[in-house]
Amino acid sequence: MLGPVILAASRSDRMRRLISAAPVTKQVVDRFIPGETVADIVPIIRDLTDRGLELTMDVVGEDITTPEQATAARDAYLELIARLKDLELGEKVEMSVKLSMFGQALEGGHELALANVRPVVEAAAAIGTTVTLDAEDHTTLDSMFAIHEELRKDFPQTGCVIQAYLFRTEADARRLAAAGSRVRLVKGAYKEPAEVAYQQKHEIDKAYVRILKTLMEGEGYPMIGSHDPRLIAIAQELAHQAGRKLDEYEFQMLYGIRGDEHLRLAAEGHRMRVYTAYGTDWYGYFMRRLAEKPANLRFFLRSMVSK
Ligand code: FDA
Repeated sequence: MLGPVILAASRSDRMRRLISAAPVTKQVVDRFIPGETVADIVPIIRDLTDRGLELTMDVVGEDITTPEQATAARDAYLELIARLKDLELGEKVEMSVKLSMFGQALEGGHELALANVRPVVEAAAAIGTTVTLDAEDHTTLDSMFAIHEELRKDFPQTGCVIQAYLFRTEADARRLAAAGSRVRLVKGAYKEPAEVAYQQKHEIDKAYVRILKTLMEGEGYPMIGSHDPRLIAIAQELAHQAGRKLDEYEFQMLYGIRGDEHLRLAAEGHRMRVYTAYGTDWYGYFMRRLAEKPANLRFFLRSMVSK
């Protein structure tokens, strides 16, 4: 029951100011967002890749209000990619981007987001890696898929995310399960109305399995974005049934969640990619992590009162 309340708060400016200014928040935030700058994050990249993990990097931020902020978001990714070039990690470290951070919700936002994300995709390709477009709330998805299709004309490796809780996703998965595509399947992290999305966990989990089956039986490259042990076991079974080799799909999990499981899957020979967020505008990302697990909120509140 708490999840929807926290997700509503994630869109409130008043809550943003309150929580961002709380003296102890930073310590709790660090669990999920382990740095603010490229310099902070490079040692984390080195450490995780040394341990056999791959990464997808997210410069946190969304819901920006000016074109200048969108340009700054583009530049933040370009700065990261310039640093990654020196590390020579190639496709071991890819980028995840939210188009809202690139101006998608502003006037002329579709074109603006495309113009801002294209140089990031180009720069990533130049160092041998790629970009995945995150899925945000359902109102943004037609634009996201159109931008994805446009980028794929020049950069076919560009990936996208689909969300199992949305009714539309089974059809999207059928369309996307084609040769050369890279698709991350997640349950979905936004507050969506009953007209467009399943509301019950068991319905979402069942949809996840149906969609995953479509992706595994298709010709694309499935990326299983989940920490759910049951779904991970089912994914392994579906991959086996579809005759996929270990390098023909990958698991993805968020930094700070089930870290032992990241290492266990990598040790079993799976490709395991850790979604690693950094930056200063962490509020929206952090609140979604609290909403996913009420125990996180209890920990957060305890840290505030014990100070
Ligand atoms: P579920 O929520 O059932 O969790 C299973 C278990 O994992 C829990 O019992 C708990 O042990 C652990 N767990 C999960 N979340 C936790 C948390 N926050 N804190 C502590 N433990 C937790 N969503 C979206 O809408 N658009 C997107 O682009 C993405 N991108 C994305 C990338 C990657 C790599 C991942 C893993 C996830 C996303 N998501 C996302 C988020 C996704 O939609 C979903 O909200 C979370 O993954 C939680 O769902 P699970 O599948 O992990 O299952």
